[in-house]
Amino acid sequence: MISKRTIDQIFETAEIEDVVSEFVLLKKRGANRIGLCPFHNEKTPSFTVSPAKGLYKCFGCGKAGNSVGFIMEHEKFSYPEALRFLAQKYNIQIEETKTDYDKEQQNEIDSLYIVNEFAKQFFINQLWETEEGRNIGLSYFKERGYNEATIKKFELGFTTKNWDGLIKAAEEKGYKREYLERLGLIKVRTDKSFDFFRDRVMFTISNVSGKPLAFAGRTLLSDKKIPKYINSPETEIYNKSKVLYGIFYAKNEIRRQNNCFLVEGYTDVISLHQAGVENVVASSGTALTEDQVRLIKRYTKNITVLYDGDAAGIKAATRGVEIILQQDMNVQVVLLPENEDPDSFIKSVGQSGFEDYVQDRARDFILFQMDLLEEDASDDPLKKADMVKAIVKTLSNIQDPIKRSLYIQTASERLALSERIIIQETNKIKRQQYKRKSEIRQDEVELIEQQAGVEYVDAAKQTENLYSDRSELLEKEIVTLLIEFGDKNYELNQKLGDFILNASKEFRIKQTIYAKMVEEYREARNRGEEVDSDYFIQHSNIELAKAAADLLSRPYALSDNWQNIYGIFVTLPAENFKSEVENLLDSYLFKQYQQLLKENQDRIKEFQLKGLEKDEDFEQVQIYQAVDKQLKEKMQEI
Ligand code: UTP
Ligand code: MN
Repeated sequence: MISKRTIDQIFETAEIEDVVSEFVLLKKRGANRIGLCPFHNEKTPSFTVSPAKGLYKCFGCGKAGNSVGFIMEHEKFSYPEALRFLAQKYNIQIEETKTDYDKEQQNEIDSLYIVNEFAKQFFINQLWETEEGRNIGLSYFKERGYNEATIKKFELGFTTKNWDGLIKAAEEKGYKREYLERLGLIKVRTDKSFDFFRDRVMFTISNVSGKPLAFAGRTLLSDKKIPKYINSPETEIYNKSKVLYGIFYAKNEIRRQNNCFLVEGYTDVISLHQAGVENVVASSGTALTEDQVRLIKRYTKNITVLYDGDAAGIKAATRGVEIILQQDMNVQVVLLPENEDPDSFIKSVGQSGFEDYVQDRARDFILFQMDLLEEDASDDPLKKADMVKAIVKTLSNIQDPIKRSLYIQTASERLALSERIIIQETNKIKRQQYKRKSEIRQDEVELIEQQAGVEYVDAAKQTENLYSDRSELLEKEIVTLLIEFGDKNYELNQKLGDFILNASKEFRIKQTIYAKMVEEYREARNRGEEVDSDYFIQHSNIELAKAAADLLSRPYALSDNWQNIYGIFVTLPAENFKSEVENLLDSYLFKQYQQLLKENQDRIKEFQLKGLEKDEDFEQVQIYQAVDKQLKEKMQEI
């Protein structure tokens, strides 16, 4: 049972807003937060969180409760399961009030840790205290460039050729052989038992709190028949898919830097550390797993994967990236120069060289994948099809719907495919993923799809112009800007709202509700009223109020990074606010011209197909051609 003290601690730590935000996009609304209810299907947010009261309540379906209750409801957990979930999220050590059976179990586990601790110390002693260890092991580490402080910090060790050194030492101390065996430290045969690790330099693999879980041993022989590294097997205390090498030494720095470097091996972690880059871990021995990503997520949402610059490296890392994206984390990749791994690279360029390189080369993963497409497959249609599939798969793994839709736009532009097609393809993959997962009821599937941002594309829309989709989104952005920040100063004597109203005279806003909002805004300003977001939220016209709540409950603050990527999206309030707003409006206008241009060109084509019969036809085409020219000029101005 979980102790009362732990339960209190969980309730104190798990703030409702933070707990809910993991599952629901929340938007600040006065003292409260609101979002779309995860428990029933809704389009306008009625799900409210009160941080001050520590409660959530949905005014649509009536569900309400505290943070533990939320997890129980949302994850369908029992009370203790929910407590354990939150304890894990907040890194709270669970104190158990134990039954006798539990106590016995715990004692067993404690014993295993004690024996592992003993083995670790044994390997360290062998390195520093034996002649073989010093001559062979220690001098090897030093040749690799590790200094003594590093060797000690990472608890590196050594084992001699002796086949029962550890067995004997353990026996002397009175440790049971059975424990050594359960830890994979020895092999027991009927005739004799022997040490598993022999004639190797040793790496200690620890958990987040620095306790030794397992070991890896590297041979110093270059005999191809001997495996270079051998590792402890999975044991009662070592589940390799849940462990990251170096996490104990890296966690504080990961938090501080709000970023975690992910590398392949033990030696990479150690070398980076010694050179002063401490926020680094390795998933050594396995392809990256979900649990490992969750472990990193306790400390940061940002991962930078360092690849070897060869094809195999890229391929291996691609698999890892999928898992990272599924956990809604941000991934950057850095491609190292050919024939370098992080270990060799930082040795040759040092900390500042490394940091400069990373700064310079870190690429958003999805853009990186698209670069590869362009480089690799531009002339080969089959290859290109494969890469498109890979990119669509990546896109389908992005959890945040807004982020995904932005990436889809970029992909559409760069791959010269319509957004509709890309959306359809990503939806296909998402549906497959959900079907695979589900013993879930159909209505729940819908709910999940909605939360996961599966966009449905209806047949009528598919035939629509390729640009319209994008300008709808832009319209939405502009109207959001207008009602959310319209009362802020744009220039010294001009409100943002008035600026947008003025600029929008050139637009024809297509979505009726947004057109209505702009008109309402204009009329209010003409009457001399101040208009802020509450003006709409509290509007007596329910339709307008709902639309405003909808817009304002979307997370508007898009990250700086997206702005770099897309050039047009706005983070507010920002220093270069003004130019961002202008970009947004320009971009919208450009899209509109683009569409007009296409419509106009279609008309010209139609005429040409039909054949020009009467004089009027000629005149008409001439007019269209003049419009064509005019539009092109306008677009150039932008
Ligand atoms: P390397 O082959 O570069 O190992 O693999 P190394 O010890 O650095 O050897 P040299 O000096 O460059 O030849 C890099 C990482 O990959 C993992 C280890 O974590 C190692 O640090 N690895 C490598 C294994 O887990 N098993 C292996 O068999 C090889
Ligand atoms: Mn190496």
